[in-house]
Amino acid sequence: MRLFIAIEPPDDLKTALAGLMVDVPGARRVPTEQLHLTLAFLGEVEENTAGELIERLALVHTPPFQLGYSGTGCFPSRHRPRVLWAGLEPHPRLMRLAAGVHEAVLACGILQEERPFSPHITLARLKIPAAREIDAFLVMSQKLKFPPFPVREFILFQSRLTSYGAVHIPVRTFPLAVRVFAL
Ligand code: 2AM
Repeated sequence: MRLFIAIEPPDDLKTALAGLMVDVPGARRVPTEQLHLTLAFLGEVEENTAGELIERLALVHTPPFQLGYSGTGCFPSRHRPRVLWAGLEPHPRLMRLAAGVHEAVLACGILQEERPFSPHITLARLKIPAAREIDAFLVMSQKLKFPPFPVREFILFQSRLTSYGAVHIPVRTFPLAVRVFAL
C-alpha cells in the first residue's frame, strides 16, 4: 500500500485555507477535506513493513502543541512555482515529532528524502507556472492571520490512486502524549 504520515488541520482552518485560493490558471487545488501537513511520504510499503511501522510510530512521543500559520509560499521558486503552500511555524515540538517519525520510518528500512523538513500544507499544484498570478496571491496572503491550532495527534494515511485522483484513508491515529517513565 502507498502510505504517508501527516497532521490534519481542524476543519475551520481547512475551510479558511481553501477560501484563500485565487483563480490561478492551470492550478489543481487540493480538495478541502484532503488538506494536510505531511510529516513523511513513504510510497509503496509491504503489509509486513506497515505492521512494523505502526509499532514504531506508537513509540514516537511528543507532548501536544499549538501550531501557527506563517504565510504562504511556493516550491521550487517564485519564478517557477509548481506547488503553492501555506506555511506553519517550525515549533520545536513539531520538528521533534517530524524527526521521530523520520527515524521510525528509516528504522523500517524505508528510504527517506534527505531534504530538510519544511512544514507546509500544499494548497495547489500548478501545471503551468503562472508566476505573475502567484506573485499577486503571495503578496495578498502574507497579511492574513489565522489563530494557532492544537496538534493532538498524527495519522498514518493510505493514499489510493483512482481515476478521480488520490483518496486518503486513515489507517491509524497516534495521539500525542507526554512520555511517562515508570519508577
Ligand atoms: P506535500 O504535498 O505536503 O509536500 C501525500 O501524497 C503527500 O505526500 C503529498 O501531499 C506530498 O506532500 C507528499 N509526497 C512527497 N513525495 C511524494 C511523491 N513522490 N508522490 C506523492 N506524494 C508525495
